[in-house]
Amino acid sequence: MKKVGVLISGRGSNLGALIAAQPGSSYEIGLVISNMESAAGLQRAETAGIATLVIPHKGKPREVFDGELDAALKKGGVEIVCLAGFMRILSDGFARSWEGRLVNIHPSLLPAYKGTHVHERVIEARETQSGASVHFVVPELDAGPVIAQASVPVHPSDTPEILAARVLEAEHRLYPQALRMLADGKVKLEKGMAVFS
Ligand code: GRF
Repeated sequence: MKKVGVLISGRGSNLGALIAAQPGSSYEIGLVISNMESAAGLQRAETAGIATLVIPHKGKPREVFDGELDAALKKGGVEIVCLAGFMRILSDGFARSWEGRLVNIHPSLLPAYKGTHVHERVIEARETQSGASVHFVVPELDAGPVIAQASVPVHPSDTPEILAARVLEAEHRLYPQALRMLADGKVKLEKGMAVFS
């Protein structure tokens, strides 16, 4: 059983999906950390009986905040870290020290549409497909090797909100699948590449 730590900043619907998919899996969420005290996702974790921690980032240099995160994760015996709507950029040092054990979900078909305001940009570009990606985290933003992706159609009448809701549904199916693959050892990060077995 792999012990998982989930980092959130907001509503935590992906955290909810990871919690819901735990039974029968080879992972167990042991700790949820938020940089925001107001994150609704904290309540989801508490309801599920999972330990929570708030580590505010305000007024701290990035390295100090990341050091506190790292210490809390290690103290909690965490082996895999999932970013789920965690709105802080992690330092290179943090990303390197958790390399291969740190994953994120991003609401686009990476490498397309890294960064923010994804759905607005996808609609603006008149794409017909979008989706979600779970990827290993490397120092460069949204650039790590992809573990799994799910695609959804983009309709001409879509607003960013409608498209975001469609992508989010796909995220909720995708993230647990990808985490299971990692916890089961079916995917590894080797020499900067995702290797599947
Ligand atoms: C998701 O769209 C995820 O892809 C992005 O942030 C959003 C988080 O939503 N990284 P939630 O907090 O999991 O509901």
